[in-house]
Amino acid sequence: MKEKRNVLFILCLCFTSALTISSCTKEKTDDGTDQELYEMAKTTDGFVWFKESDDLLDKSSGSGHPQAFLRTRYNAVAATKLDSDGKIVPGAVFPEGSLIVKELYANATTLERYAILYKQSQNINADANGWVWGYIDANGTVAVPASSKGNSCISCHSQGGNIDYMLMNKYFP
Ligand code: HEC
Repeated sequence: MKEKRNVLFILCLCFTSALTISSCTKEKTDDGTDQELYEMAKTTDGFVWFKESDDLLDKSSGSGHPQAFLRTRYNAVAATKLDSDGKIVPGAVFPEGSLIVKELYANATTLERYAILYKQSQNINADANGWVWGYIDANGTVAVPASSKGNSCISCHSQGGNIDYMLMNKYFP
């Protein structure tokens, strides 16, 4: 009888630890990714601006983004792929942890939306090149969820002249 109880106890222990392990390794939910992208995009600390300028730029002729003005910044990891003029090095492939945020302005003072590219190849929402695509309003409303894996973005961002999907160099030479 005592032995039976021991077996039961061990079974129980295995089951509990299996549960704990699986919940720890469980991949992030989609909502978690959007929230994480939003939190990372909101802060400008440690970012470097494209061409080292935070001036608003008129959107380009090729822009798939409706807002009139934009400016783009790179976190410290992504900024390792910028040259001394603050442009992307030709042929660059961004390392894991790179975060690129394009701020989209409806007018000179109103930040409306963040367009985000985050390289995290292990993320459940990453595309084949390891990028997670975010499209989130300034107030946190998700415009296009990361779970859509950039399916409305990739064809345009794959056009000739892109560098690891980036189009700033092409349209703002
Ligand atoms: C029809 C083409 C087109 C589509 C669709 C598009 N983009 Fe863009 N995107 C551009 C262009 C062109 C730029 C360069 C700056 C500009 O003029 O807006 C750009 C710039 C960006 C940047 C700044 C980094 C860089 O150098 O490219 C990010 C981030 C971005 N887009 C994210 C997205 C996301 C996320 C989506 C989908 C929800 C998307 N884009 C859909 C054309 C497009």
